[in-house]
Amino acid sequence: MINKPNTPVAGPNEFEWGVATSSFQIEGARNADGRTDGIWDAFCAVPKAIADGTNADVAAGHYHRLEEDLDLVSELGVDAYRFSISWSRIFPDPGGQINTAGMDFYQRLCDGLIERGVKPVLTLYHWDLPLYLHQRGGWLSRHTVDEFVRLAEACFANLGDRVHRWCTINEPWCQAVMGYATGEHAPGGRSRSDGWQAAHHLLLAHGRAVLAHQESPAAGSDIGIVLNLHTPRPMTRAQADREAVDRFMDERNRLFLDPLLGRPYPQRLFARYRDERPPKTASGDMDTIARLGSFLGVNYYDEQIVTDDSSPDGPGWRLVPPWGPTTDMGWPVVPSGLERHLYWVAEQVGPDTPLVVTENGVAVRDDDERPRERDSARIMYMATHLNALARARAQGVNVRGYYHWTLMDNFEWAEGLAKRFGLVHVNYRTGERTPRASYHFYRDYVTNGPSLGMDALDVLLGETYR
Ligand code: FCB
Repeated sequence: MINKPNTPVAGPNEFEWGVATSSFQIEGARNADGRTDGIWDAFCAVPKAIADGTNADVAAGHYHRLEEDLDLVSELGVDAYRFSISWSRIFPDPGGQINTAGMDFYQRLCDGLIERGVKPVLTLYHWDLPLYLHQRGGWLSRHTVDEFVRLAEACFANLGDRVHRWCTINEPWCQAVMGYATGEHAPGGRSRSDGWQAAHHLLLAHGRAVLAHQESPAAGSDIGIVLNLHTPRPMTRAQADREAVDRFMDERNRLFLDPLLGRPYPQRLFARYRDERPPKTASGDMDTIARLGSFLGVNYYDEQIVTDDSSPDGPGWRLVPPWGPTTDMGWPVVPSGLERHLYWVAEQVGPDTPLVVTENGVAVRDDDERPRERDSARIMYMATHLNALARARAQGVNVRGYYHWTLMDNFEWAEGLAKRFGLVHVNYRTGERTPRASYHFYRDYVTNGPSLGMDALDVLLGETYR
């Protein structure tokens, strides 16, 4: 089953091909080995919070199928595997000690990867805050930042000899805005000011974790944050639409990138709304935040089209319904957008900060009966996005890795189990895993290089025109 040697896979200047997951979305085993509930366990119990009424108590059952899943990673032929830790497995109680069983799980995970020649890439926070921290204010409280640093230090100390790359926070925009302002994600808060406050604390948590990393046994490894920045196109050439794009970027991009790059928050974003407050900051916070780390993680799924909207007390922009193909999430499929996006991000952070595409993938409707044959849409999405990535690299953009989202079907947050992003199909009744055609396509691509992988595209194109 093991097809890679137990040696480092890629040198520092080589490209990392990978695949990504997150703890809450795949693990299940809600209360196993001392784990306590997190905000998403609670959110799943709120009527109508999850579109298909499912929860993640079992999800893909990864916690109890670790070896089988590691074999799937290994046989995929990737260099690296990005996963996240469940905070309440490691610290199940307020102020408590490390739960050894929880930490053991992640040590076995890392060891299992290394034995198979795959590099562990660990995300410290992928949205699953322990419920006991939420009860003390969650990301609205600085206490959570202190606790996050304790979590980071525990991971640096116990996993620092194994992890190749650390991601501090995954997509702080989603956690802050969807979690505290729009109520679409856990913990379901609905105040714009709270969203900004949460964003500030998430950024502070990142900065403090990067500082703690420098003093820890993990200091030699890479560390960075993962952002879902957006570079939408204006609906028309009109000045008003271009300005709308700019306003959109205040919230999606500048709220995060500006402080990370040592600039103040984009004040005009806060000034747009009556009765809303900018985030409260303490002295020294902005200096702590002003560090990216050693790379920037970029998640890319789609590109939006934006137009002006001057409704009172609104954000000053509106999304235009996509005219082209969309995924099962309703997200527009715009492969060339990835190339444009990488140019824009590289320009913002400069050529010395390596970028890593930490997520890119697609939800495709599927069923349990014909999981392998119906995967041409995913292959098409992958091939075209990999092409866009190759063009950006050929233009000299400093991109060091690409991680496909995701290894296997899993719990897609507020959408539940119905949206299938996996290279591997999961039968939720039996837990059985079946690699899809896209799994074989990606293996071919990362093993033999683009040209062979592209043969699959020729076949698909042939089918399209028959
Ligand atoms: C990203 C999340 C990831 C997954 C994909 C589809 O925003 O980081 O967990 O849900 O979207």
